[in-house]
Amino acid sequence: MKNFIFRDGDKMPALGLGTWKSSPGEVYNVIREALKIGYRHIDCASFYGNESEIGRALIDTLNSGDGIKREDLWVTSKLWNNAHLKDDVRPALERTLKDLQLDYLDLYLIHWPIALKPEIQFPSSIKDFLSLDDAPTVLTWQAMEACVKDKLIKHIGVSNFSIKKIKELFDSCEVRPEVNQIELHPFHQQTEMLEFCSKEGVVLTAYSPLGSPDRSAEFKDPGEPSLLANPTIVEIADAMGLSSAQVLIRWAIQRGTSVIPKSVNAARLQQNFDAATISLSVEDMGKIATLEEKERLITGKFWDAPELGYSMDTLWDE
Ligand code: A2P
Repeated sequence: MKNFIFRDGDKMPALGLGTWKSSPGEVYNVIREALKIGYRHIDCASFYGNESEIGRALIDTLNSGDGIKREDLWVTSKLWNNAHLKDDVRPALERTLKDLQLDYLDLYLIHWPIALKPEIQFPSSIKDFLSLDDAPTVLTWQAMEACVKDKLIKHIGVSNFSIKKIKELFDSCEVRPEVNQIELHPFHQQTEMLEFCSKEGVVLTAYSPLGSPDRSAEFKDPGEPSLLANPTIVEIADAMGLSSAQVLIRWAIQRGTSVIPKSVNAARLQQNFDAATISLSVEDMGKIATLEEKERLITGKFWDAPELGYSMDTLWDE
């Protein structure tokens, strides 16, 4: 398994298990199975609503005598948008640590560059947002840095941040963001971001690498194209005796990103894990490069609150 090696020598496996949309009730078995298969990188978030069940699976595995130790695992979680005020960061992190039954996280990310009022889980009107003047990201970041100093987190980073927003953090931070986690797949290849991150020593993690076909309707455009059924991907997969998902996962790793496909199915977990060790030809990588559509599947349109300075333009800085 390829690892990303951080400045302090810590290693993050390139392939992780995504847990967005893995429901409570199924995610316990998924984590136990994934750890048996060999996954050591688990991507979580408080917003996914399943961290306490993931925590039970982690602790049961660590206590099971299977030989897996805490230090063998890389566990990521994310600060939700309603805990951006500087005094809210540490309590949110502590809740996540309690749910995951861990003493520390390997990586904690700011989930979105968007601030909501503390009592709001998901906005239904403009009244639910805090402006970035009320909750400046720089202060959120300082509170994250304090948690690193207190050894509750080993590494910190961001998610859904543009190059401009990462540069703004570089200008003011003590601890640089080490990871940016964003939507990335052949329809949305993020080449400029990948070049920027490689140059700046930021690891780029690809979410929705299979196109997240199981998203609920509110997050989905009914006419959106299917990555798994794309003829170029299917043709490459068929020629190599692989599945489309394996081609997509391998493409992400071979391009120098970390990748976190989600599955709740044992056979697909195994299949996805095996994709880390296959190899695509230069020719096939070239064919996939032509699939760029520059459209996001996760548009972020649910954060539209222009009166407070949140719009698609200010979110993605494009
Ligand atoms: P399931 O969880 O039933 O396996 P993403 O990682 O882009 O969010 O995509 C997750 C979606 O892709 C889920 O619907 C998941 O279904 C499906 N999926 C995961 N692995 C595979 C695979 N190897 N082949 C086909 N679909 C897969």
